[in-house]
Amino acid sequence: MKIHLSSKPAPGPTAVLVWRKKGEPVPIDAVPVADDGFWRDARQDGFSGQRGESFWMRRSTGTPWMLLGVGEAEEFDLQSLRLAAATAVRRLADARWPALSLWVPASVGPVHDSVRALAEGARLAAYRFDRHQSAPKPAGALRSLGLVLPAGASRAAAEIALQRAAIAVDAVDEARDLINEPAGVMTPTVFAARARALTGPSLRVRVYQGKALQRLGAGALMAVGRGSAEPPVLIHLHYRPARPRARWALVGKGVTFDSGGLSLKPADGMMTMKYDMAGAAVVLSVFHALRRLRPDVEVHGVTPVTENMPGPGAYKPGDVVRAMNGKTIEVLNTDAEGRVILADALSFAARLPVDRVVDIATLTGAAAVALGKAYAALMTDDAALERDLVSAAQSAGEKLWRLPLERSYRDHLKSSVADLKNIGNPGEAGTIIGGLFLKEFAGPRPWAHIDMAGVGWNGAGSPLSPPGATGAMVRTLLSLVLGGGKSRGH
Ligand code: BES
Ligand code: ZN
Ligand code: ZN
Repeated sequence: MKIHLSSKPAPGPTAVLVWRKKGEPVPIDAVPVADDGFWRDARQDGFSGQRGESFWMRRSTGTPWMLLGVGEAEEFDLQSLRLAAATAVRRLADARWPALSLWVPASVGPVHDSVRALAEGARLAAYRFDRHQSAPKPAGALRSLGLVLPAGASRAAAEIALQRAAIAVDAVDEARDLINEPAGVMTPTVFAARARALTGPSLRVRVYQGKALQRLGAGALMAVGRGSAEPPVLIHLHYRPARPRARWALVGKGVTFDSGGLSLKPADGMMTMKYDMAGAAVVLSVFHALRRLRPDVEVHGVTPVTENMPGPGAYKPGDVVRAMNGKTIEVLNTDAEGRVILADALSFAARLPVDRVVDIATLTGAAAVALGKAYAALMTDDAALERDLVSAAQSAGEKLWRLPLERSYRDHLKSSVADLKNIGNPGEAGTIIGGLFLKEFAGPRPWAHIDMAGVGWNGAGSPLSPPGATGAMVRTLLSLVLGGGKSRGH
């Protein structure tokens, strides 16, 4: 689907945004929508302007209209626009119209922000993963979406916004592709090849494996990898502009398949475990966008990538492994493998010359139990980093909710044979325990941990994502490192 800007609607269907004021649906702007009879029909049909609602008005002659609800006027935000555009795309997927014109509202804030949100919503909803189907369902007829700019709006600013939206959603789609790909295809070696392919001006990619991994002292990652026929890797991406104004490290969990290892998961728990590399996919995808945007921030990406399998060499409950920072870990449950490989990756990141470290991982099922599919769990002791992350998420239309890194729970990780063990008390603050474990390896700089186990996958699909990998948190982290979510002192 192509998205372009225009100054007037093309012939064919035209969509208008409608919000609710005092309980009544009214168009956001006084656009030349059809006659009163048309509105009567819409109301009679039950259209009330709610978020995500739509009404499709076709007459035997003349322009067909589509009304897109954005909900209560007082609650209006850019996410309402993303959802409205997504609804339009889905509505038209089964229609025969190849093009839609959509009026960009003039009276709800900067036009370029609205353009960006509408373009993001339309593109996010249009994603499909059908490369393994021999007869994929034909893509919807909709080929072109025209965003009609209100009079007086800056075309140049809108073009830049459109470009930004395309780069951000391309990155999200890249993450979705990496995650949706079956584990039999997306092995650590294949993932590493996808990372290497990003190499370019100011973007260096180094892949540590075998002996190199051993020399690093990545005993924890190597231990997890030993149960698999596929060799583990540690990938270091480094984007370096000439004069960086900030320096970040992003660390992502990359378990391309989590069987649980010898602490084997039940069959049901394994069905979606190809998405256990979503954290690494998010990090890699952010670099996709960085290499196109070329911002003046330096970003390191560190992704440990491995399978977690119960093969003959598998690490065993009771084993003690040594992470890159020298700390020893007693592995009492081989299914808590994410924190084990991140122990090495965070130790690696702690040595890099950066200002802040953020890790992202599908770390605990408990995160999904606590917060469901809408909110990722955020753990950090750094108030400024928390503010920036929450505001970056807000600008991306994604959601983070903070959980405390409660010091007193650190005792749950005490081991009698090693520096710490990899699990706490069963059924007790599992997500927080995961965060407290990682904190032991994160080093002294401001650090935040995002548990995306709940938000990374949606089997049923959601308004902005078809079923499967959601690509969640790509736009949040991108906005974070670009400074879009920088706190402005209030
Ligand atoms: N990859 C899982 C976490 C997960 C579960 C992500 C469900 C998405 C959906 C992780 O490696 C794991 O198995 N964690 C264990 C930790 C426990 C053994 C302390 C869990 O959540 O049960
Ligand atoms: Zn696991
Ligand atoms: Zn896992």
